[in-house]
Amino acid sequence: MPIEFRTLIFGIVTILVLFLIIADISEVEEEIANIGDSRKFYLHNFVPKSNRNAALRADPTSVGSSMEGTSSGSPPPPPSPPMAKNKTSLSTSTWTFNKTLSDLIRKSVLKFLDPERDISILKGTWKPGDVIHYIFDRQSTTNISENLYRLLPTSSPMKNQHYKLCAIVGNSGILLNSSCGPEIDAHDFVIRCNLAPVEEYSGDVGRRTNLVTMNPSVVQRAFQDLKTEEWRERFIRRLQSLSGSVLWIPAFMAKGGEKRVEWAVRLILTHTVNVRTAIPSLRLLNAVRGYWLTNKVQIKRPTTGLLMYTMATRFCEEIHLYGFWPFARDAEGRPVKYHYYDTLTYEYTSHTGPHTMPLEFRTLRTLHRQGALQLHTGVCRPPT
Ligand SMILES: *[C@@H]1O[C@H](CO)[C@@H](O)[C@H](O)[C@H]1NC(C)=O
Ligand SMILES: *[C@@H]1O[C@H](CO)[C@@H](O)[C@H](O)[C@H]1NC(C)=O
Ligand SMILES: *[C@@H]1O[C@H](CO)[C@@H](O)[C@H](O)[C@H]1NC(C)=O
Ligand SMILES: *[C@@H]1O[C@H](CO)[C@@H](O)[C@H](O)[C@H]1NC(C)=O
Repeated sequence: MPIEFRTLIFGIVTILVLFLIIADISEVEEEIANIGDSRKFYLHNFVPKSNRNAALRADPTSVGSSMEGTSSGSPPPPPSPPMAKNKTSLSTSTWTFNKTLSDLIRKSVLKFLDPERDISILKGTWKPGDVIHYIFDRQSTTNISENLYRLLPTSSPMKNQHYKLCAIVGNSGILLNSSCGPEIDAHDFVIRCNLAPVEEYSGDVGRRTNLVTMNPSVVQRAFQDLKTEEWRERFIRRLQSLSGSVLWIPAFMAKGGEKRVEWAVRLILTHTVNVRTAIPSLRLLNAVRGYWLTNKVQIKRPTTGLLMYTMATRFCEEIHLYGFWPFARDAEGRPVKYHYYDTLTYEYTSHTGPHTMPLEFRTLRTLHRQGALQLHTGVCRPPT
């Protein structure tokens, strides 16, 4: 009987859908179990993940309206008018930490992503050969190689980790001659970006590294695509110096990096390198963007620095930012290098670039003034 058959199919589909929803909820519940106030998050997270992602991509305003309550509790106000000429107005001596605000930001971020989960895809959820669409180049795909699979963690490398004082070290030349090294190293958890060198600059940038990011392009730019034995050795030595840190590789953001990731991964597997690799979840970027868009910060593509800040709100109580300075000159008008360690230049105000650094900086500066984070842009006091 066709009608009965249809009813049967309908029944099966309904059960399947219910099962998927329940699975999704229990996953979310498990992840937020240690945050407390789970009822509230439960409601916010009820929308299946795939829909949340689609919403973020399609229409940022719809996210805003579906996330009631975020605007009242949410800190970053609309960006102020263009950066004032006077850049000296960032005070660290009168700064006080606002824990209430910092806690509010953490809660608000958690409505969009769970950094503990989104920091890495896990072995259990993928298998070698699984096809992945790049975040920025949706039409292009790659697959999870056997080697990459072997390096996937089985549980989040940040599981149940909480720190009182964290530093996120950007790579701006503003760090040169800052003497901030010892101050940075005094934090409980130090995040660095793009495998930036530390040894030769330790007085200004410190050495301590608990998490470091590595875009696939770094393999080319800083290690000459590992073409010669010498560059491969340098790369390995750099990784060995990380001793136990999380190595965060955004492998699936933009196409073109897959070979570099594969070379790097192969070297890690064939040498004694003590790093905990992490490959960000496929939803991380859009979720972070959604969080900032909802707070009226219209970033195109978050920089690694802003990604790290957003994720760090989950693990850190007090967050200090160093080496964030998207300007060609310092407060006294002296030239500032884009990176403290190379000669790359960058057009900060270009509208064709992927990032909106001056806007990000204004946002961070506002958060600094509100006491949610501390931005260090000057020289550090010598250690006492
Ligand atoms: C810049 O702002 C600071 C603090 O608001 C002020 O003390 C200083 O005089 C200003 N400098 C200039 C050049 O306007
Ligand atoms: C801290 O932030 C909260 C939330 O934005 C605000 O209500 C409070 O006034 C702030 N406290 C101080 C001391 O600035
Ligand atoms: C995965 O990618 C590699 C290299 O791009 C290709 O040779 C291989 O056939 C792909 N495997 C699957 C299962 O798609
Ligand atoms: C750092 O200080 C050294 C020595 O005083 C000086 O030669 C150099 O130009 C300074 N670098 C920057 C970027 O200010």
